[in-house]
This record gives sequence, C-alpha cells and structure tokens, in this order.
Amino acid sequence: MLSFDPYLPVVDADPFPLYRILRDEYPCYWSAEAKMWVLSRHADILAALSSWQSYSSARGNLMDELPNRAGSTLGTTDPPRHDRLRALIQHAFTKRNLENMAEPVRAMVRESLAELRGQRSFDFVGDFSARVTAKILFRMLGLPAGDDREVRERAVMMVQSDSVSRQKGPEHLAAYNWMQDYAAGVIAERRRNPADDLISQFCVSEIDGERLAEREVLLTTTTLIMAGIESLGGFTVMFALNMADFAEARAELVANPGLLPDAIEESLRYNTSAQRFRRSLMRDMTLHGQTMRAGDFVCMAYGSGNRDERQFPDADRYDIRRKPRGHLGFGGGVHACLGAMVARMSVRIIFEEFLQAYPRFERVHQQLPWMPSSTFRSPMKLELAIH
Ligand code: HEM
Repeated sequence: MLSFDPYLPVVDADPFPLYRILRDEYPCYWSAEAKMWVLSRHADILAALSSWQSYSSARGNLMDELPNRAGSTLGTTDPPRHDRLRALIQHAFTKRNLENMAEPVRAMVRESLAELRGQRSFDFVGDFSARVTAKILFRMLGLPAGDDREVRERAVMMVQSDSVSRQKGPEHLAAYNWMQDYAAGVIAERRRNPADDLISQFCVSEIDGERLAEREVLLTTTTLIMAGIESLGGFTVMFALNMADFAEARAELVANPGLLPDAIEESLRYNTSAQRFRRSLMRDMTLHGQTMRAGDFVCMAYGSGNRDERQFPDADRYDIRRKPRGHLGFGGGVHACLGAMVARMSVRIIFEEFLQAYPRFERVHQQLPWMPSSTFRSPMKLELAIH
C-alpha cells in the first residue's frame, strides 16, 4: 500500500517516482497523513480545473493555507467575485506594460551579474536569482526599492511549513504577519501619495460601484507579493538546475537563445516549482471508483500531471524541442497564473544574459537543500562551479 504524504522531505527531494505510482495505481488517492484526496493524472486535473463549481478555491488554494486568506484573495475566491477581482488587477499585466518592463528587467539582470564578476563559484540562489527576481517584482508592483531583500526572506518563509507537525510553525506565521504589516504600510502610503502603479490603482478599486473591503486590499496585496516573489524566484532556480543537469540543452541554448521560450515551457512541464495546489469539493464526486465527499480537500498534483505519459510521451525526458501544449506549470481554468507573461519574459531575459555570461557551469552538490513546502518545490541553495 502506497503512502504519499506531500509534507515529507522525501517528497520535496524527488516526488516523481511516487507520482508515477499514484497515476498508474491510485489515480484518486486518499492521503491519510495530509487528510486530502490527491489527483495525479493530467486529464483528471484538467477536468477539475475547468469545474470550479465542484472544485472550489474559496477554502484556500495553498496546500497549507495561511490564516484569514480563504475567501479574500484572487487565488482563494470563486467566480463571480473572483472574476471581478481578477479584472481589477489584470489591466496591470497588459502586453504594453510588459514591453515597457523588458529593458529595465535586462538592466537589473546585468547589474546583478556584474556583482558576480570574477567568482568561479557562487550560490545561484543567494548570490543572484533571489536578488534579481525580487528586484523585478518590486519594480513591477511599484514597491519601494531597498526593501526587497527583507520582503523576499519573509515571502519565502511564509510558503514553508513544518515537515514534522505538517502545519505552519510560529516562524512561518510571524513572516505572514510581518508581510501583512508591510503591505498595510505600502497601502497607506499609496493612499496618501498615489502613483502610477498596481498597488495605487488597486487601493481605490471598486467592484460594481462598491469599494473593495480593506481586508481584500490587504490580503490580495500580500498574496501578490508572496506569489510573485516566491514563484518567480523558485522557478528561476529550477530552470538553472535544468541548465546545470542537461548540458546538451544548455549548449543548444547558448548557441541559439531563440530557443529559450520553448525551453522555459519544457521546464514548466518537467519540474515546475509550483507542484501542488488545493481545492475543496462542493459536492460528492466519484472518480476511478472512489467516492469523494462534499467538503473534502483535494490536492491537484500539477507536477504529476506534467509527467503523465498519457498526455506527454516519454514524459520523464527533458526535451527543449517538445513544445508541451497544455502543461500545468501555471495551473489552468479560471485560476490560471496571472503572472505567466511576466514570468516568461523575466526568465527569458535572465537566461539570455546569464548563459551569455556563463555558458558552462555545473552544480557542486548532488544533494540539494529543498525548501520544506507542501505547495512549492525548489532548492534554497544551488552552488554552481563555473568552467
Ligand atoms: C514561473 C513563475 C510562476 C509560476 C510557476 C506560477 C504558478 C502559478 C500557479 C500554478 C497558479 C495556480 C494556482 C492554483 O491553481 O490555485 C498561479 C496563480 C497565480 N499566480 Fe503565478 N506563478 C508564477 C509567477 C507569478 C508571478 C510573477 C505573479 C505575479 C506577479 C503571479 C501571480 C499569480 C496570481 C495572482 C495567481 C492567482 C490567479 C487566480 O487565482 O486567478 N505568479 N501561479
């Protein structure tokens, strides 16, 4: 009998063999430890994503939900409220705004690369990617430059959980409270001095002539900071890991950077940092002979659906020419990632520059310190040796 517990360090280190057993033998699996169902096949996850009426986000979407978030943010509301909230934020993510970001992003990446000059080995996370991705997000959201380091540390802490208690520990909750205080300060400042940025616009937004509740403004701002910083930072590290591990693909990309967008899609499929999210059932459902009850929690194992042979032939192979249509790296349905375009553009520019500066490198350690998180998967450190 399989025991799959998404809170265990062994799952952070390598979830893929367990995912395969789940898909092949227990496609609708009850995890007694996590007290939730686990969907692992691509088709089942996709069907669930297109049915928010049955698979609700209103009781939280993080595997280990933070207090008070359910029902108040983009990721934790259902339509119609979700769609209206999303419409308020979406305009900040337009193509034009994105295009305006491209040059500043490149400048920030070059500046961060310059700080590495002369070093033959460094921690890709601490010395480079964490810094540059936080700077990018700060610029995008219009947050005060200079706070990025502290904010990033708290954002990464918020999404972790204690692998022994399987819950948020005091340090995670303290980081969450800190982030809410920080967001409250930014909101108050923007109300006093509105600027042309996302948070200023969001602070004064209305839905159907009704101002957003203070709690919604606060928690949505907190979530945007967290979702942006952690997801972009985590995925950038996973992409670097693939570049270290798949030297042939890296050499191709050095020779032909035009292939980077395809390589990014393949990395989102192959080992995305956003591995698992949660829904709760609004009605009884029977799937693969198992009856799940209304009110039960369901884990959507995106990372497993992405390795499903039923959808992606030879799914365990990293192939930058695959063009993996329908991968779940950004989720799907009404909650599909709002930051997908920003993320794609940022990672592309980061690696256009990074691979040019460092065409050959390898990782120093085979064993990596994986972040303890039931939702996200990325190493907290990645030592690279430059050749
Ligand atoms: C490569 C980096 C990223 C990855 C892998 C990623 C992944 C995801 C995934 C899987 C979801 C769906 C969650 C669910 O099903 O409940 C999601 C939602 C979301 N993401 Fe991202 N994300 C990334 C970058 C970003 C960035 C940069 C931002 C913002 C600046 C962002 C903001 C959001 C928001 C607001 C949602 C909620 C959307 C909704 O519920 O309507 N993400 N992301």
